[in-house]
Amino acid sequence: MSPLAGEGAEGEGQPAHHQHETMIDLHTHILHEFDDGAESLSDALVMARAAVANGITTVATTPHGRGVPPPNSRYSVALIRERFAVLQTALEAEAIPLTLVAGTEIYGEAGALAALQAGRLLTYGTSRALLLEFPLEVRAEAAAELIFGFQLANYRVVVAHPERYRFVRQDPNALIPLIERGALMQLTSGALIGRQGSHMQRVTKQMLQHGMAHILATDSHGPHLRRMPDLAEAHAVACELVGAEVADALVLHTPAAILADAALDLPPPEHIRRWFGLW
Ligand SMILES: [Fe+2]
Repeated sequence: MSPLAGEGAEGEGQPAHHQHETMIDLHTHILHEFDDGAESLSDALVMARAAVANGITTVATTPHGRGVPPPNSRYSVALIRERFAVLQTALEAEAIPLTLVAGTEIYGEAGALAALQAGRLLTYGTSRALLLEFPLEVRAEAAAELIFGFQLANYRVVVAHPERYRFVRQDPNALIPLIERGALMQLTSGALIGRQGSHMQRVTKQMLQHGMAHILATDSHGPHLRRMPDLAEAHAVACELVGAEVADALVLHTPAAILADAALDLPPPEHIRRWFGLW
C-alpha cells in the first residue's frame, strides 16, 4: 500500500487540528532484541499496535548502527534483515496494518560513509536518504563535515534529533548553514509535546516556527522506556504553531518524499532572535 493512500480524506471542511491518519515515522527502535529498543517481539507488536492507533501507517526500523560495531553491540545488516522479516511476518499474522521500511540510525563518525558504501549500514529502504545521529557533544564543524561527506557522495541526510546536540542547544541558528546545504532536520515528537521538559519544548517550538524542522518522528524505544509512538500529539502541537499544511508535511509529505527520493521545496530557515539572552 502506498504511504499516501487515504490522503484524499484530508480536504475542505476538515477542522484545522484534525488527526492525521496516514503518518510516516522515520525513526524507531521497534526491531526487537537489537539495541535499547523493543526488548521482545511481543513488545515490538505492542509498539506496532500503538503506532497504528496513533495514526501511523509506515515506520522505518532504525536501530543504532556503526560501521565497526562496539563489542556490546549486536548490530549487523544481517540481523536487521532477520529481525525485520520476523516482525513483518508477525504483523501479517496479527493483521496489524503497518508497513515497515528498513534503515539504520547511523552514528556520525569517521568511516561511516565508507561503511555505508560497503553495505554495513543502510539507507531508508531503496532510497538515497539516511538517518544520521551524532554524539551529543559533537562540534558543529565536525557535524557539517560528516554531513557534507555523505552529500558529496549523493546521499540525502536526515539529521536525527538536532535538538539534543550541545551546539544546537547553545545556538539553534548553528543549524542554518547545514539546512541551507540541504540537510533535513528530524525533530523528536516527544520533545515538541513537552515530554523532555519545558526548555526542550520551547527550543523545539522555536525551531519549528523558524523553518529548522523538516520532519517529526518518534524515536520510540518501547514500553520498557515509556517511549511509545506519539506522533499524533506532536502533529496537533505543530498544527497549533504552524498550521495544518506544514504540520502534515512534517508527518507525511516530507517523509514520503524522503522515502521516494523525490524533490522537496522547503521554506528557507529563519534566524531565531534571542530574547534577554535566553533561547
Ligand atoms: Fe534513535
